[in-house]
Amino acid sequence: MSDSKIPTPDQLRRDVNEFLKEKYGDRVVIPPEPDLNGQTPPPEGEKKDFTSPVHFNLKPSELEAYLQQYVVGQDEAIEVLATKICTHFNRMKLETRTDGVEELVGNIKSNVLMIGPTGVGKTYLIKLIAKKIGVPFVKGDATKFSETGYVGGDVEELVRDLVREANGDLKLAEYGIIYLDEIDKIASSGNSIGPDVSRSGVQRNLLKLMEESEVDLKTPHDLAAQMEAAMEAQRTGKVARKKVNTRNILFVMSGAFSTLPDIIRRRLNQQPIGFRGVEEELPASAADTEILRKLRSEDLIRFGFESEFVGRLPVTVTLNDLDVEGLFRILGNPNSTVIQGKRRDFRSYDIHIEFEEEALRRIAELANEEHTGARGLVSVVDRLLLKFEKTLPDTTITEFTVTPALVDNPQGELDRLLTQHYLKAFQKRFLASNGIVITFTGEALELLRQRASGEGKNLEEVCSDLLHDYEYGLRLLGCDNFTVDSDIVRDPKSRLEEMIKQSYGKKH
Ligand SMILES: Nc1ncnc2c1ncn2[C@@H]1O[C@H](COP(=O)(O)OP(=O)(O)OP(=O)(O)O)[C@@H](O)[C@H]1O
Ligand SMILES: [Mg+2]
Repeated sequence: MSDSKIPTPDQLRRDVNEFLKEKYGDRVVIPPEPDLNGQTPPPEGEKKDFTSPVHFNLKPSELEAYLQQYVVGQDEAIEVLATKICTHFNRMKLETRTDGVEELVGNIKSNVLMIGPTGVGKTYLIKLIAKKIGVPFVKGDATKFSETGYVGGDVEELVRDLVREANGDLKLAEYGIIYLDEIDKIASSGNSIGPDVSRSGVQRNLLKLMEESEVDLKTPHDLAAQMEAAMEAQRTGKVARKKVNTRNILFVMSGAFSTLPDIIRRRLNQQPIGFRGVEEELPASAADTEILRKLRSEDLIRFGFESEFVGRLPVTVTLNDLDVEGLFRILGNPNSTVIQGKRRDFRSYDIHIEFEEEALRRIAELANEEHTGARGLVSVVDRLLLKFEKTLPDTTITEFTVTPALVDNPQGELDRLLTQHYLKAFQKRFLASNGIVITFTGEALELLRQRASGEGKNLEEVCSDLLHDYEYGLRLLGCDNFTVDSDIVRDPKSRLEEMIKQSYGKKH
């Protein structure tokens, strides 16, 4: 076979995809593999702007100040993370210098363990940091690995994901951040049967990556890549190995660790009184976040982690539970996506919304009852405004304010808003076409509202139907203002006839 007959890897991928499409429809596709020479353009809209970490020159206090602008109520965590992560990147910069700075052998990386309940900013912090530093970032879920049963290949997939995030730039991927959530779920519970075997298996697989290992870019089941490699080998007689070194990749692991405070409490209680340091005297009722400050490696080992695993996570960060005050501050934060995101949702329908401060406080209180951290804010705001979001685009309403009354009774406030809106529209039209100011008694309005909802019409339509004959009648009578009461709503005809009769009687 001559060389010219050999398809390019791209051609090959297209051919294989065509074959797969015929056989399976669009369900199976071989994605373009990250181009190792950085020549494959990233897919549309995914181009990321990374700076080389070698040009990194951020100081811990600068990173801290940046994070403070976004993240509320986690000052301690921010301080530790900003410092350790800045130092991690600055140290890599030092090591790439060629002015004789010696490379440290056995260098311990500042991999981070984050402990904290759901929705308090763990992922958010790391994402912000990766963005600020300009390195690729991938997020994985530790439970995924134990579920498959096949562990080794999967944790390495995180590193390949990092290459994809870096648009195929291997060097950059080697400075990326890998974030693994739910790491507490791969702790073993002490007995070595069942899922525990694979859990400690996952820990061991992660160990290799966390330290230093070379990850092959080609997965054993990447068909196109395997074929490409085989052809490459045939052509050149060499097997090109494309690998990523994990030495500088920063690992951040996070989890809720809900039973950890009790483990620490037990340890503290078991120490003979005389051996407890003054700082370890904590009342049994001390809050979990207080207790977590006393965390030691041995507690994590008791929790179910291998000591080698704990040893490779030298930085521990505890995040606080968010209370009502914290949640309220998030809502008020101009960088917060909760309120800004909702504003944007409505702006897409040309509706401007305002939030009263007292309403924000009520929202924070409701969110606090959900026990899902800042995520509770999003669900509360969504729940409150859903009907508004559905209904208002059908109207010409262009603004409204979220008040405490709205938070307490969203449906009632929506009805009120719609009533006012349609009422005004009707009054305006009535005045314009008849020159008459029309008003309604409260009772009449209530009846009309009920009728509107019963008939599935809006208030303006119901008023127009009801008062159709009055437009001419009142003009005839020479009125310049008129009040509609509940009797008219019940029986519009009689009153109009009566008024016309009366006026006729007066004139004659
Ligand atoms: N402390 C905070 N300050 C400001 N916003 C926050 C804070 N915590 C969370 N948020 C908001 O809530 C969202 C969800 O938080 P995040 O993803 O960081 O939760 P998490 O701590 O990683 O929870 P989980 O353990 O469930 O993954 C964030 O994207 C952010 O908008
Ligand atoms: Mg998270």
